[in-house]
Amino acid sequence: MITKEQVLHALGHVEEPDLKKDLVTLNMIQNIEILPGKLKFDVVLTTPACPLKGHIEHACRNAISLFVSKDIEVDINMTSRVISTEAAQLDGIKNIILVSSGKGGVGKSTVASNLALALAETGAKTGLLDADIYGPSLPIMFGVEGARPASVQTPQGKNKIVPIEKFGLKLLSIGFFTDPNQPIPWRGPMATSAIKQLFGDTDWGELDYLVVDMPPGTGDIHITVAQSYPISGAVIVTTPQHVALADAIKGIGMYQMEGINVPILGVVENMAYFTPAELPDSKYYIFGKDGGKRLSESNNVPFLGEIPLVKSIADAGDNGFPILLDADEAVSQAYKDIAGRVAQELSILANRV
Ligand SMILES: Nc1ncnc2c1ncn2[C@@H]1O[C@H](COP(=O)(O)OP(=O)(O)O)[C@@H](O)[C@H]1O
Ligand SMILES: [Mg+2]
Repeated sequence: MITKEQVLHALGHVEEPDLKKDLVTLNMIQNIEILPGKLKFDVVLTTPACPLKGHIEHACRNAISLFVSKDIEVDINMTSRVISTEAAQLDGIKNIILVSSGKGGVGKSTVASNLALALAETGAKTGLLDADIYGPSLPIMFGVEGARPASVQTPQGKNKIVPIEKFGLKLLSIGFFTDPNQPIPWRGPMATSAIKQLFGDTDWGELDYLVVDMPPGTGDIHITVAQSYPISGAVIVTTPQHVALADAIKGIGMYQMEGINVPILGVVENMAYFTPAELPDSKYYIFGKDGGKRLSESNNVPFLGEIPLVKSIADAGDNGFPILLDADEAVSQAYKDIAGRVAQELSILANRV
C-alpha cells in the first residue's frame, strides 16, 4: 500500500513552470485519496485559464509513475481557485484588468470583449465594464443597445446597479446610461464620478476577473481609476503603426509612474497583418511588422500575442456577436491564447506578494 507521504514526495518534484516552485510547496495538491489500486487527488491551479494545465497534469502522472508506482491507476482532478493580486480586493472582485491603448480605434474594445469571453469560457467568473465615456461600444458589440440595468438596495440601504448578463458575462457600459444620439460633453469631475459609480456602486457579486475597457489616452479617468481601485494590471493594445506605438509608449509610461504603479501585464498587437481569403498563406504587413513585439521588448514588458486584421472580426463587432463565440473562426484561438497569457501573468504577480 502506498502512502500519502510518498505521493507528496513525488509531486514535490513537479514544478509549476510560471511560479517556479513545486506543486506541494504551492499547496496545489489537495484531497489525496488512496484506494486499492487507485490514487486520486486534486491539482488546484491559480486560474482555470491556465495554458499549462495539460502539461502539469502530464508531469504529475510521470512523477507518480517514476517515484511511486507504475501500476497504479491515477485519477487527477484539475481544478482551480483564482487568487487575487491585491491584498485589498474591491468587494468580491479578485482581479481587475484594465484594457488600455494610447490611441482610439486600435481595437481596444474588441480585445477587451474577446478577452473577457475567453476567460469566462474557461469557467472563470468574469465581468466586463465599458468605461470608455468618449465612445462606449460594448452595447453594439454585444447586441444590447437600449439595455437599462436594474438597481437593487443593499441591506445597508445603498442603491446598487445590477450589471446585465450576456454570453456568460456580467456586463455594464456607461453607454447604458447615456443617449447614443446625444453626446455628452463630459467635464472632469462628472466623468470621474460616473466612473466611480460604475466601479463602486455596482453589484458585481463574486468575480475572478473584471475586464475594463478604458477610454483611449492617458487622462484624468486613468489616474482616478488607478488610484481609487486595486488594479491588478493593464493590457496595452496597439497596432503596428508608428502613431499608435508612440501613444502606447505614453500609456505604458503613465501606468508605471510613481503613485500609479499599475503592473503592465503585456502588449497585444492588433491588426498585425492581413491575409486575404483567396491567398490564405500570404501575410501582408500593411501597418509595419512586429511593432508591438519591439515595443514590448524595449519597454521590458511581456508580449501577449498578435491578432491579424480579419474582416469577420469587424463584422462580428457590428453584429453584436463577438468572434470568440463563433466556433468556426480560427482567429478565436489567438484571443484564447492571449487570455491564457493574461491569466498566467496575473498568477505570477499574485504569487510574488
Ligand atoms: N483584428 C481586427 N480585424 C478587423 N477589424 C478589427 C480588428 N480589431 C478591431 N477591428 C475593428 O476596428 C474597429 C475599431 O475597433 P475597436 O475595438 O472599437 O477599437 P477601440 O476600442 O480601440 O476604439 C471596429 O470596427 C472593430 O470591429
Ligand atoms: Mg472602444
